[in-house]
Amino acid sequence: MVETLRVGMVGLGLVATSHLKGYLSHPRAAVVAICDLDQARALRFAEENGIEEVYADYGDMLNEADLDVVDIATPTHLHAPMALEAVRAGKHVHCEKPFCRFVGEGEAVCRAATLSGVRVVVGETYVFISSHQKARALIEAGEIGRPLQIRQRHGDWIERAKARVYTGPPDRNWRVDPARSGGGAYPWIFDHAVHFFASAEYFALDETIAEVYAVKAAGGASGSGAAHDPYAAAEVDIPLITWKYQDESMQGVWMRAERLNGKYDYMRGFSTTIIGEEGQIEVLGEGGHNLLWQGKQQHLILHRGDENARCLRFDEGGDDVWESDISYYSQGHIQQVHHLIDCIVEDREPDYGGEEGVHAVRCTLAVIRSAELGRPVSVDEIGAEFRAY
Ligand SMILES: NC(=O)c1ccc[n+]([C@@H]2O[C@H](COP(=O)([O-])OP(=O)(O)OC[C@H]3O[C@@H](n4cnc5c(N)ncnc54)[C@H](O)[C@@H]3O)[C@@H](O)[C@H]2O)c1
Repeated sequence: MVETLRVGMVGLGLVATSHLKGYLSHPRAAVVAICDLDQARALRFAEENGIEEVYADYGDMLNEADLDVVDIATPTHLHAPMALEAVRAGKHVHCEKPFCRFVGEGEAVCRAATLSGVRVVVGETYVFISSHQKARALIEAGEIGRPLQIRQRHGDWIERAKARVYTGPPDRNWRVDPARSGGGAYPWIFDHAVHFFASAEYFALDETIAEVYAVKAAGGASGSGAAHDPYAAAEVDIPLITWKYQDESMQGVWMRAERLNGKYDYMRGFSTTIIGEEGQIEVLGEGGHNLLWQGKQQHLILHRGDENARCLRFDEGGDDVWESDISYYSQGHIQQVHHLIDCIVEDREPDYGGEEGVHAVRCTLAVIRSAELGRPVSVDEIGAEFRAY
């Protein structure tokens, strides 16, 4: 058994700093190599963090560095191809979401990982942040009875006046490129809806989403999600999504409540209300703020019949990017990276691996197809080769 897992990171933009914190804070991991096309950025990253091996070419890093784990935080079109190369080379993988751009591409990685006997964790941070994990634990403990309905809202994300981390290169246009984002005319939805479905199943105690229905809106874009992102001019948008689970007594809804559609919303960031048979939970997620109970800021509120509401906060140093004291960047990512390392060390299946990552992409592709067709779309309708671009 190796004492320390040797990690190579590829893609050193916005999210990489949060991943790095995860490796630095785990006693069984060490980042020994990094790779980015932007060599000035890579050299700076190496110098700041005492990393010796710096590569400009991913293939070179895989061939030359002595690695146990590869961390992939490149633009989305590179995720599955890079993950496939890594697992074929016998490396464990931490790969950012969306895991793939089409189902067949992600499934190929899962098959190759099984053949190589390596672990894959997909960077689905919505199931790794403390507030969501606590909500899940309360639901598992039966505090609200059987969960029946998941209501998600997406308020404005407010970026800190001065982000505490590097927020990526000036040219981040892969995010709005139909093919490189993977989302065709809906790059924002493709990048983010995987989070909504992953957390919607997580709060529903892993009940599977079977059918989605998306409402398409033409034009109307009046602002961007965050200053560091290039989403200013969406021509079409999906402001509402509903879904049914395989258990037909359960359903969910996501709604955009931010200024992208020109609406005012006092409640910031991602938040969810989980309605159960015997109570409900309100919980803040990424960038969340302004969940109030009796005039005080809370992060999670448990309501049960005639009992007093139980309020919880998760003060973990705030967020490096958003004006929010939910620590998405960085505690969420730290917990996710620790999960991969722990699963490798303890030789166990990750809670959120390749199959889960592929399923979230399949649900997202069903959303885009639904918006285009104007009718509900069953998740099973999305074949291995169906793409949004
Ligand atoms: N889980 C989360 O909460 C979360 C948050 C942010 C981003 N992400 C995901 O992480 C991925 C990266 O996002 P980001 O915002 O950090 O991107 P970014 O644009 O800030 O950084 C991407 C980096 O990859 C490098 N790169 C591009 N092509 C490369 C190649 N062929 N070889 C080596 N390096 C290459 C770029 O030079 C850049 O430094 C995206 O898929 C995004 O969806 C996830």
